[in-house]
Amino acid sequence: TLRHKLGLTGTKLGCDRAECGSCTVLIDDVPHYACSVLTHTVRSRKVLTIEGLANADGTLHPIQQGVVEEQGFQCAFCMPGFIMASVAFLKSNPNPTRAELANGISGNLCRCQDYDKILTALMRGAENLRKTSHV
Ligand code: FES
Ligand code: FES
Repeated sequence: TLRHKLGLTGTKLGCDRAECGSCTVLIDDVPHYACSVLTHTVRSRKVLTIEGLANADGTLHPIQQGVVEEQGFQCAFCMPGFIMASVAFLKSNPNPTRAELANGISGNLCRCQDYDKILTALMRGAENLRKTSHV
């Protein structure tokens, strides 16, 4: 529904079996694997995809900005899912250690195995987030 009917191609389809997290979206602020959620079950709920993170004026979300600053992904296919998972995790723990953040987004996999740089980028994003009032 997101990609083919609504044209929201930022959400990626990786495994299509609830294993990789590349399809992660927030449903009522809680991260879900979109590949495993039927559209009719979320009709009255708030679904946030990567397209909804930036401000209307195009200003990136602080976590997205952190990824830009650190160039934290290789092919970046997994990136939207990692960012959405981080947005959700940082709501409950805005000042995590690197290990806590790694654990918090452990439902997301990267086929390029670029975890070290991804974590650096997302830690930078968390730092950016703490400096702003962006929610
Ligand atoms: S595509 Fe949904 S978890 Fe992999
Ligand atoms: S950067 Fe390529 S899958 Fe993660």
